[in-house]
Amino acid sequence: MERTYIMVKPDGVERGLVGDIIARFERKGYQLLALRLIHPTRELLEEHYADLKSKPFFPSLMTYMTSGPVVGMVWGGKEVVKTGRVMLGATNPLASAPGTIRGDFCIDVGRNLCHGSDSVESAEREIALWFKEEIKAHKRTIEPLIYE
Ligand code: PPS
Repeated sequence: MERTYIMVKPDGVERGLVGDIIARFERKGYQLLALRLIHPTRELLEEHYADLKSKPFFPSLMTYMTSGPVVGMVWGGKEVVKTGRVMLGATNPLASAPGTIRGDFCIDVGRNLCHGSDSVESAEREIALWFKEEIKAHKRTIEPLIYE
């Protein structure tokens, strides 16, 4: 089963939006495989965002992401990487459709509430980074209610 790394950023945690974001993924039918509240270090974030180090917004991204705890989650299910990003909405919230998380709850790209892995490969790298222990997918009784 495909897995993705979804993270509620510090503004989402502080604004009390964790429950709503979890509910959207649960209602869709995706399976929560792991969840962790963590105040990330700069080192962890530099590794997570390694490919963005040369971007002009990198310093402000680091300030934002170290400003408070985040909630990291692993979600599993069919095409969860691609669909998870559709559910989050476009990176720039002003371009996000209503009904998506960013489209409904935020305005600025520098306060865009949540992160979702952009590929299956990134997802596995991010899951290994944020969740050191191996996460085993467990069979749940809801599966026959979601998949043919
Ligand atoms: S880029 O420039 O195309 O590589 O950026 P993009 O793929 O759109 O986004 C990569 C991550 O950088 C975040 N981002 C920003 N953060 C703060 N300020 C600005 N201006 C900004 N632009 C992009 C964006 O939210 C992506 O992080 P995640 O965690 O995946 O949302």
